[in-house]
Amino acid sequence: MSRAQRKMDHIQHALTTGQVRQTGFDDVIFVHQSLPNLSTTDIQLNTKIGELTLSSPIFINAMTGGGGKKTWEINKALAEVAKICNVGLAVGSQMSAIKDQDEATTYEIVRKANPNGLIFANLGSEATVEQAKQAVDMLEANALQIHLNVIQELVMPEGDRDFSGALGRIERIVNSLNVPVIVKETGFGISHETAKKLVDIGVSIIDVSGYGGTNFSKIENERRTQRLEFFNDWGIPTAASIAEVKHAVPGTSIIGSGGIQKPMDIAKAIALGASAVGLAGYFLKVFMEEGQDGLIQLIHQTHDELRWMMTALGASTIEDLQQAPIMITGETYHWLTQRGVD
Ligand code: FNR
Repeated sequence: MSRAQRKMDHIQHALTTGQVRQTGFDDVIFVHQSLPNLSTTDIQLNTKIGELTLSSPIFINAMTGGGGKKTWEINKALAEVAKICNVGLAVGSQMSAIKDQDEATTYEIVRKANPNGLIFANLGSEATVEQAKQAVDMLEANALQIHLNVIQELVMPEGDRDFSGALGRIERIVNSLNVPVIVKETGFGISHETAKKLVDIGVSIIDVSGYGGTNFSKIENERRTQRLEFFNDWGIPTAASIAEVKHAVPGTSIIGSGGIQKPMDIAKAIALGASAVGLAGYFLKVFMEEGQDGLIQLIHQTHDELRWMMTALGASTIEDLQQAPIMITGETYHWLTQRGVD
């Protein structure tokens, strides 16, 4: 099977089997405030992750990698949406374009379509410093995402089996690039142990990309005969992962992602400690079903609804929303209690 075909299979499975919705956000409840002392016109949605300023807390997270005409079309369309809605955009893994120059146009179109927008490059933790620089240059990227995807690789029949040395390679990249490095999971969540290791080597932005949304174990198992079913329920739910990481490394910028769909998920991710929120599978689904206009309308509506919620909570900024009082119940409460997060 060609790489382009495998990537299209990922998209297809991500839209169907891949979405599970067990993020833990249902366990998080905002405590109503009757005197917010704010007008809807006071709300500001701009935020910061590390040294980067974002005009919206939401961005389109990494998806389509690999070559092929379809990927080029999706990347172009998503870059246009990002420009119109003034949100950031991460591309999918650029390793194929680094190895095969013909595939670079699939990514370069993103910068062409959105010359001044916030764009994140993307590579796996097998990348070298030289490859990291190439990935950033290809897009004139504002940051580089390095993704961690051990479970996906293990379930993928043709996947990697050796995960040694990743932290050292990430450290060398952090020390060599002149743009920030975001280390992200791919749907299995970041634990506080992993977060501490990353911060110790100088990583200042972590995208938890937790369990509860796109599930790459299920997606890859669809392509196997002897399935590794036990990985289908593996992972740290997104709500718990954000709270763990916030508690362990409070000065580090956190991106909440993994199963985020509704404005309420976004508000809760921020109240748990995230400074920004990435959406991948859900935005892809809306785009495939309702096209560019459908996705643009959804992002506008999401911004509006976030403003209403922030008004009700008396939070005029994203920083205020991070301090909004919440109750944590159910499994997420038990998870956090046992993990020493109070
Ligand atoms: C992804 N994701 C991803 N992440 C990454 O860092 N590099 C990549 O190349 C890809 N490729 C990819 C393809 C497709 C089709 C999907 C749906 C997702 C993972 C993505 O960025 C995110 O971490 C997870 O999908 C969890 O978020 P959602 O989808 O639940 O919002």
